[in-house]
Amino acid sequence: MVTCRRMILLSMLALGWSFALVASGPAKAEYGDVVINNYSDAAGMRPVVFPHWFHRVRFACKVCHADLGFQFKAGGNNLDMLQIIDGKFCGACHNGEIAWGVENCNLCHSGKPGTPTQVHESTMQKLATPQPARKK
Ligand code: HEC
Ligand code: HEC
Ligand code: HEC
Repeated sequence: MVTCRRMILLSMLALGWSFALVASGPAKAEYGDVVINNYSDAAGMRPVVFPHWFHRVRFACKVCHADLGFQFKAGGNNLDMLQIIDGKFCGACHNGEIAWGVENCNLCHSGKPGTPTQVHESTMQKLATPQPARKK
């Protein structure tokens, strides 16, 4: 079963990122999530939505912000897929062992295209730029 799913995902990949975009579910981001979009839009992928709270209740801050080297800044890490596949940053856990692996593109690349790097719906963000209604 796992092999079968992998094959489907890999062939989706072979068809190009655009297919993944069309096939993915509704864009999602909740209060406090970090949207990471330094490269995604430009590469034709949906922005990454990192559910910070979901991770914070499971791991100590230190795991990510000291041991894995994540900077305390939305978009401040110049993450790319090579590093992630190489087991760095998100890839330290999203390797099919601690958490599901990198082949699940859409679980990370789930943001609404065009969403800038930000802490989603933070007060600071709202003060800086008025946001349009989230749900159509
Ligand atoms: C565990 C989370 C995660 C998964 C799964 C994941 N990505 Fe990413 N990806 C990221 C992050 C984080 C970035 C950096 C986002 C940014 O700054 O725009 C990124 C960036 C990218 C980029 C732009 C930078 C680069 O390396 O070229 C592409 C293209 C990309 N991902 C494709 C994919 C594809 C295709 C898959 C599935 C095979 C995938 N990603 C799966 C987290 C993930
Ligand atoms: C699973 C990893 C992980 C854990 C655990 C974690 N963080 Fe983060 N944190 C991140 C990532 C990833 C980002 C976004 C970095 C980026 O966009 O490149 C971030 C961003 C931040 C930011 C910056 C947000 C902004 O306004 O720019 C702060 C502050 C922060 N974390 C604090 C914490 C604290 C405090 C804890 C513990 C209670 C914690 N983090 C636990 C991964 C983690
Ligand atoms: C310290 C380990 C760790 C790191 C680092 C980490 N994750 Fe996760 N992540 C997890 C675990 C564990 C889960 C839960 C997996 C499960 O439910 O099977 C998870 C779940 C998720 C989910 C799904 C949340 C949900 O609602 O089910 C997303 C999206 C995600 N991670 C994205 C990321 C991205 C993007 C990064 C890097 C910016 C990242 N993660 C870094 C451990 C990590």
